Amino acid sequence: MSNIFDIVTARADYEQGAVVIIDQTQLPGREVYLALKTPEEIWEAIYLLKVRGAPAIGVAAAYGISVCMQKVNEVDDFYREFARVKNYLASSRPTAVNLFTALERMEVALLKCQGAGVEVLKRVLREEAEAIRREDAAACRKIGEYGLSLLKPGMGLLTHCNAGHLAVSEYGTALAPIYLGQEQGFGFSVFADETRPLLQGARLTAFELQKAGVDVTLICDNMTSSVMKQGWVQAVLVGCDRVAANGDTANKIGTSGVAVLAKYYGIPFYVLGPTSTIDMDCPTGKEIKIEERDPAEVTEKWYTRRMAPEGIHVYNPAFDVTSAELITAIITEKGIAYPPFRDKFRGWKECK
Ligand code: MRU
Repeated sequence: MSNIFDIVTARADYEQGAVVIIDQTQLPGREVYLALKTPEEIWEAIYLLKVRGAPAIGVAAAYGISVCMQKVNEVDDFYREFARVKNYLASSRPTAVNLFTALERMEVALLKCQGAGVEVLKRVLREEAEAIRREDAAACRKIGEYGLSLLKPGMGLLTHCNAGHLAVSEYGTALAPIYLGQEQGFGFSVFADETRPLLQGARLTAFELQKAGVDVTLICDNMTSSVMKQGWVQAVLVGCDRVAANGDTANKIGTSGVAVLAKYYGIPFYVLGPTSTIDMDCPTGKEIKIEERDPAEVTEKWYTRRMAPEGIHVYNPAFDVTSAELITAIITEKGIAYPPFRDKFRGWKECK
């Protein structure tokens, strides 16, 4: 059996002219890699969650635009084509800010080289995409260390959706302290919410924690209160797609309900993510755009037969916003922020 950390979420293969991703929609049954060669293929892979998780989407988009731009040989066309691909990829999913910050970073790197030849521009894009991936992996390691400092051996932990190795370049955000604790013999027991409608918890979190040898128990989303009430959960760890300047946090739909339950039962609720997920241009959660997805994801996707009547009205938001008041701490690669979050965030964002 391969090691979970041998799985590569996204990488660039410049010889093939492709971004290579593991197709997360095929997990846990099959480990299938896809070589995405065109902006359309990359857009579709992000939209269909073949590559998903806020940091991983950013990395895939950075590699994606770099790979696509290697095929442009006229310097006059370069900046125009870059802008076209950037805007197109940015339209694939609206909520995770990492998609936009990664593409912006690629543009800033390019703009610093105005007047340079086309080979220099291509090299700069390759290097910047690699730097984004490298920094993401390093940030996850630090998030794991800070997160673990808040936990004790033998704790029961609960997580929602998938903020693990598959959602980033290496290790994860919410799952990073769990992996680090596993290496150090902390003996955590983890509850993974299945995470309807697309089952990232059941398909991905349960898969990766089990593969890593962590004691993981899968529960349906409506069982969270029950396991908390029985005293089996001492901390909740979740990832984030966009954190507003006041700490309001968008993450997978259902996260805010888990936070309300955690508050009721007096369980600490921790949000873990890189500082690149903090959006200081978004004052509060109200300004975060929440993606709404295909109703078929609720009525039939992932099942062998339809699970709801034809023509039923469906509401299918992919994310929700957890109010800052429900969050015990936000853990990043730069440290741990406690409420009120804004000042700490400002300091982090100012010092690069
Ligand atoms: O729709 P998804 O699967 O991309 O949603 C992912 C999440 O909500 C994760 O918790 C979040 O992106 C953090 S990943 C480190």
